[in-house]
Amino acid sequence: MANDQEKEAAARASLRFVNDGDIVGLGSGSTAECAIRLLGERLKSGLRIRGIPTSVRSKELAASLGIPLTTLDDYQQIDVTIDGADEFDPELRLIKGGGGALLREKIIASASKKVVIVADSSKQVQVLGKFPMPVEVIPFAQALIANKITALGASVTLRQYVDENPFVTDDGHRILDCRFGQIPDPPTLAHTLSDMPGVVEHGLFINMVNVVLMGKGDEVMEFRRLKPRD
Ligand code: A5P
Repeated sequence: MANDQEKEAAARASLRFVNDGDIVGLGSGSTAECAIRLLGERLKSGLRIRGIPTSVRSKELAASLGIPLTTLDDYQQIDVTIDGADEFDPELRLIKGGGGALLREKIIASASKKVVIVADSSKQVQVLGKFPMPVEVIPFAQALIANKITALGASVTLRQYVDENPFVTDDGHRILDCRFGQIPDPPTLAHTLSDMPGVVEHGLFINMVNVVLMGKGDEVMEFRRLKPRD
């Protein structure tokens, strides 16, 4: 339950990055959902925003709260995105995709002027890799890519539902959960994975984040990247 309080506190702190009239990227996962609910409350007291959700689930939640929604077809620049993470390191590099929404999350982050990550304190690591790194693949290539990633030294599992059918992402792809152990050089691994035909996207987010807000006990700690985003 301590984690729930930390998530709520981080989500609440993220609202100060949202201004009236903003186009807001709406993240996925329980912490981002907390922020979406809080945005819904702010709307009642007069805040005007339009949201672009990163998953079908976040879209449904936002719609149920009456948050006006738009799409990348109408806006190719997002003012601020609030999203969660599965891990972050001291350089604010992330592993994302625990909820399977990494593709749309990365697209939305790439189109955002500011990316604010909300997290509980369990997400902070010195070196990425404790969390299995999700890689989104097209089903046609899943076995091929699983072999290639295994050859890199990871233990690879095809994500499944409880009924053991393969998990299917919002865009009809599959997820390989890849346990690398520690990832000492995330940029090199990111390039290696991006170069594999059939990989749609991977869960390493590098040079994408401006701010991480981490709930820790009763406090919210703020981490900023020293070098601003290009
Ligand atoms: C969704 O695909 C992920 O990238 C989430 O951001 C991540 O799983 C964080 O989820 P929680 O906020 O529930 O920990």
